[in-house]
Amino acid sequence: MKIVGLSGNVKRPSRTAALVEAIVSGVRDRLGGEGPVIELVDAAPVLFRALRSDQLDAEGRAIINAVEAADVLVVGSPVYRASYTGALKHLFDLVDYRALTGKRIILAATGGTPLHGLMTEHQLRPLFGFFNALSLPTAIYATEVDFTEYGITNPAVHERIERAVSELAQVLPVPNQTAAARAHGNRPALVAAFA
Ligand SMILES: Cc1cc2nc3c(=O)[nH]c(=O)nc-3n(C[C@H](O)[C@H](O)[C@H](O)COP(=O)(O)O)c2cc1C
Repeated sequence: MKIVGLSGNVKRPSRTAALVEAIVSGVRDRLGGEGPVIELVDAAPVLFRALRSDQLDAEGRAIINAVEAADVLVVGSPVYRASYTGALKHLFDLVDYRALTGKRIILAATGGTPLHGLMTEHQLRPLFGFFNALSLPTAIYATEVDFTEYGITNPAVHERIERAVSELAQVLPVPNQTAAARAHGNRPALVAAFA
């Protein structure tokens, strides 16, 4: 399983990158998988050399290819002006509109105020609705008080990460199962997981 973390941070150190790393680690510990965590502080200067996907150079194309090839994406952003960062949006403007169909997405964000905690629902979730991706019900939001020295210190954030990872476990395809059996067999588990 290829798991790619994407963090919309445009500075370092970054609480958002720490949150995305923690979620990716949680997925790997429970379900395995491998892949990079891409931070926009590194990727944006490369990607902004292109304004359209047909202008991507080899370095930029490699970033977009990694995103398009992922089975699971963990996407987090700092809240900037009540939304995700423009740098993260630019990355997704370069992703083929068909490439994320059916991919499992865990949504996350960090902000300065709890009042913007619904950014994941009102800004990030519709983006993946556009892509026909499968965003998991539990999104993880953390504010500056949930961190100490850029490490997560609020157990409630870790609990939400575990919940999102449990949901992911429920929606991953089971090997050697027919599509029909999978659709039928997973339905009760899905309902239980999301209750
Ligand atoms: C340009 C800018 C805009 C911001 N806008 C918001 C905002 O609208 N709502 C909010 O809760 N926090 C806002 N913040 C605070 C950041 O979201 C918060 O500090 C975040 O945890 C930073 O993440 P990072 O450490 O990954 O960069 C803003 C910060 C900056 C620099």
